Amino acid sequence: MAKHTVITMPGDGIGNQVLPEALRVLNAVGFEATYIHADIGWECWRNEGNALPQRTIELLAKYKLGLFGAITSKPNKAAQEELKPELRGKGYVYYSPIVTMRQKFNLDICMRPCIGFAGNPLNYIRKKTGGGFDEPQIDTTVFRQNTEGMYAGIEWTNPPDNVRAALASHPKFKAFAEVPGPDLAVSVRLITRSAARRIVTAAFEYAKKRGFKGVTICEKPNVVRETSGMMEETAKEVAKNYPGIALWSTNIDAQLMWLNKNPEDYNVIVASNLFGDILSDAFAGLVGGLGFAASGNLGEEVAVFEPTHGSAPKYADLNPPIVNPIAMILSAAMMLDHIGEGMKANRIRKAIAAVVQEGKVRSYDMIRLSGGPKAISQGAASTVQMTDAILEKLGTQQVSKAVAEA
Ligand code: NAI
Ligand code: MG
Repeated sequence: MAKHTVITMPGDGIGNQVLPEALRVLNAVGFEATYIHADIGWECWRNEGNALPQRTIELLAKYKLGLFGAITSKPNKAAQEELKPELRGKGYVYYSPIVTMRQKFNLDICMRPCIGFAGNPLNYIRKKTGGGFDEPQIDTTVFRQNTEGMYAGIEWTNPPDNVRAALASHPKFKAFAEVPGPDLAVSVRLITRSAARRIVTAAFEYAKKRGFKGVTICEKPNVVRETSGMMEETAKEVAKNYPGIALWSTNIDAQLMWLNKNPEDYNVIVASNLFGDILSDAFAGLVGGLGFAASGNLGEEVAVFEPTHGSAPKYADLNPPIVNPIAMILSAAMMLDHIGEGMKANRIRKAIAAVVQEGKVRSYDMIRLSGGPKAISQGAASTVQMTDAILEKLGTQQVSKAVAEA
């Protein structure tokens, strides 16, 4: 029997196109696993009134390792309208299955590497003072707290009386005391010391493993004194356990300016949920964007790996599929790192690097096409062809049927 069991959750739209490509690559590096398919996403919502069915939760709880594609989510009104008729008006409420999964399994560490591949035409470049351009090697990994902060979901429009009374006990609330309830929206930014410690520790452990000189905590403690303050204070405490690694502190606003000036100076950045979300998208944009952005959601027991992109419905029905499978394949490589198969993960990354460097096979995003059915005739490689190119660099001859027929 295979040593590992992986729960595969392709989800919706292009999740169904990219996840099978990642499995082809995992097979090609000799990763032996049993894959168990699990349902998640919009179809589950429409047919069952639950985008993350209990059977999927049970599989993840049992096997603890997941590969996830992407899901579609829509605003409440559309969600209700698209429920199958016999479920409508029965009180079903749509919850994002990703958020639910993170909460259920306390997947509190989100790791998002943004590491540039040489030769990627989408890489960040910078004007040199003496003329010409400079393409610094960006190797940044963002550690984003995944379960608390602004995304904890503790919020109200028209807060109930007891919440309003609690707010009124704060001297700063005086300025808002006369605002009518329906005109007042409140989101709570909640940080706990133990979760702060876990995310900062994950960042330091990673810096240690990679041999980096420092970790940057990116918050705003001069203004958001309590929550950002606790993040920074915890980072200082944790840093004491890592004597060879410096702790640097930046503010989120200044950090976004600096990432346009000297992104190569930041190797490991740790932040609370909202700031980490913003930072990781911003850094991902410097190394190729959504087609390259992988992530891991890591809990104490369960870990789920996924590209950060969504289901891209406008491309979901194209035949052949055109989206870039690299983000999904890199996510699978992160899974290998996580379970101690780092050598196989490195082989995958090297193969991707070779394809990108060579430049013969480029998905539509890499050559800045607008996508759509014309992309292939305009010179873009299909999803399957991109994977084939990676497999070829791995030295396997699993050229797909689709290409053989082309
Ligand atoms: P999206 O990430 O699905 O797509 C945005 C655009 O990025 C696409 O139209 C496409 O141009 C490009 N893109 C995305 N993935 C790509 C890939 N692998 N290769 C090349 N180009 C790629 O975000 P959007 O359009 O905002 O949301 C679509 C649906 O996905 C929504 O229902 C949204 O709720 C959901 N979503 C799900 C996420 C998840 O499952 N983790 C994350 C983000 C959005
Ligand atoms: Mg985001």
